[in-house]
Amino acid sequence: MCAASLYPVRPEVVARSFTDEAAYKAMYQQSVINPDGFWREQARRLDWIKPFTKVKQTSFDDHHVDIKWFADGTLNASYNCLDRHLEARGEQVAIIWEGDDPSAQRLITYRELHEEVCRFANALRGQDVHRGDVVTIYMPMIPEAVVAMLACARIGAIHSVVFGGFSPDALAGRIADCRSKVVITADEGLRGGKRVPLKANVDEALTNPDTYSVNKVIVCKRTGGDIKWHSHRDIWYEDLLKVAGSICAPKEMGAEEPLFLLYTSGSTGKPKGVVHTTGGYLLYASLTHERVFDYRPGEVYWCTADVGWVTGHSYIVYGPLANGATTLLFEGIPSYPDMTRISKIIDKHGVNILYTAPTAIRAMMAQGRAPVEGADGSSLRLLGSVGEPINPEAWHWYYENIGRERCPIVDTWWQTETGGILITPLPGATSLKPGSASRPFFGVQPALVDNLGNLIEGAGEGNLVIIDSWPGQARSLHGDHDRFVDTYFKTFKGMYFTGDGARRDEDGYYWITGRVDDVLNVSGHRMGTAEIESAMVAHPQVAEAAVVGVPHDVKGQGIYVYVTLNDGVSASEALRQELKAWIRREIGPIATPDVIQWAPGLPKTRSGKIMRRILRKISVGEYDGLGDISTLADPSVVQSLINIHRGMQ
Ligand code: PRX
Repeated sequence: MCAASLYPVRPEVVARSFTDEAAYKAMYQQSVINPDGFWREQARRLDWIKPFTKVKQTSFDDHHVDIKWFADGTLNASYNCLDRHLEARGEQVAIIWEGDDPSAQRLITYRELHEEVCRFANALRGQDVHRGDVVTIYMPMIPEAVVAMLACARIGAIHSVVFGGFSPDALAGRIADCRSKVVITADEGLRGGKRVPLKANVDEALTNPDTYSVNKVIVCKRTGGDIKWHSHRDIWYEDLLKVAGSICAPKEMGAEEPLFLLYTSGSTGKPKGVVHTTGGYLLYASLTHERVFDYRPGEVYWCTADVGWVTGHSYIVYGPLANGATTLLFEGIPSYPDMTRISKIIDKHGVNILYTAPTAIRAMMAQGRAPVEGADGSSLRLLGSVGEPINPEAWHWYYENIGRERCPIVDTWWQTETGGILITPLPGATSLKPGSASRPFFGVQPALVDNLGNLIEGAGEGNLVIIDSWPGQARSLHGDHDRFVDTYFKTFKGMYFTGDGARRDEDGYYWITGRVDDVLNVSGHRMGTAEIESAMVAHPQVAEAAVVGVPHDVKGQGIYVYVTLNDGVSASEALRQELKAWIRREIGPIATPDVIQWAPGLPKTRSGKIMRRILRKISVGEYDGLGDISTLADPSVVQSLINIHRGMQ
């Protein structure tokens, strides 16, 4: 397979697209030359309560980072996702829910979703939740998770969705940081036939004294499994709905009032509460969803992400629903009951657009053609990829087997902090190069800089920065604007630093090369090395730990941990397994180490900084070319780590 192959836009794709090559060029030019004019026009796609007069008021100056869009306008996100569709498409299906068990499904129309959101919004008010309060949502992939998000938006509460795979400890940390009053959860989740003890996890999280702000836990009945009940605090979702009224006027929100917080990993141990606001975020999610996926009314759109991640927020919930789309919500996993599940869901529901992650594609690819054997797949028209670089081999497998060499693939690069897609092909405009996220979306000005911050012109490789604001951009980190400025605007002054490296080719296409900071990307999920290290050293027998990413066939990156044990503790296979289980429990299954290597010492500079560069090389068996190790406090550590690594092969 040749990474440089080019797939020109097919004429039938141009014919049905919103944006052809000429339109892309013209709109892109306009969007960067006159952002005010461009975004003023685009903002008409939302229903505003009070129209804005100001459009872009943004500063990336690191002494005064301030990002505001449409600041004097008002609107309500849930109104835009629900009420305004009722007249034209009240009976259209808004959510197709496909259960973990292939025989479980629900179809929910816009009218039904609107009614349930209104009821639940009233119920939340009844629990003393009001504008500006934070509500933590820790739910499985069931329609009630979407209801909970939109109900918060309806009354001006700020939701903080925590991925259901996170541990009680991780959940407690996120609750404590934003001091949420209410947690919404389910008795248990169901994934791949296994039960996930969500309510028990909440109970455990709330034993942490830092979560004192929580006074109610709302529990949705999913499995009917046995759970402990704290009657002063716990309430059934279903009981609340029964008595709640179905009329709930949407709250008039300022465009710059927060819509949600979403915690993500950074290069330090403490997760960051990324703040997204209402107007710019919703506009950006809605416009990108329409243009990147060329979404037309009536089509069935499926994003396989979990609502616990930003992809779920922008491209399962807000973007599609703001556009009146039919969005598929899948509770399960691609491998259950077997690897044909994705193909079966596509055929069963007539999916037109599939948006998934390279890790899922590689898991299918590992089984050859079996995952698509017997499938029809003719409903599909467009494929998307997100979360990590897609290797050309996986791209081709996806293109040939799922897309039947007929469907363009949009490889969309973006981040939790960007709110929506920033670099991507547009199906009717962009010739595809497997492995490249290609060109910027409207209004997005990417650039490459060297380590000193000098701009790299033309073809080249460097740090990926964005040089001006776009409406979907995060505004701050919850409770810590200084950290926001330090993380994103200080490394290269006056620019937003993405933390990614990239290459730009002679056609101006971007090829993301991966993180340049201490953040891993495991199965498309961001994991801070520091987060795993601090969980590891919390184990009573561990003295020190250092984490690096290693190439992994399915996950993209695997987690490789060097562990130094306390004096007197002897290394054993049982302890290795115990430490793996410890991390699963401390953070969650997604952080489970792939490899634990014992380390009598770690390669540190005299000032105590761990030289990860050396650890990365040893973990993949590259013992040569370790560079200058004479600056290490104890260079002999390197040879002993090499010897241990050799012994493990
Ligand atoms: O390294 C990039 C990678 O995922 C990071 C963002 O992770 P997160 O905030 O969890 O959001 C994931 C979903 C938007 C980025 O810094 N990444 C995301 N999409 C791509 C990608 N790397 C290469 N190609 C992509 N299409």
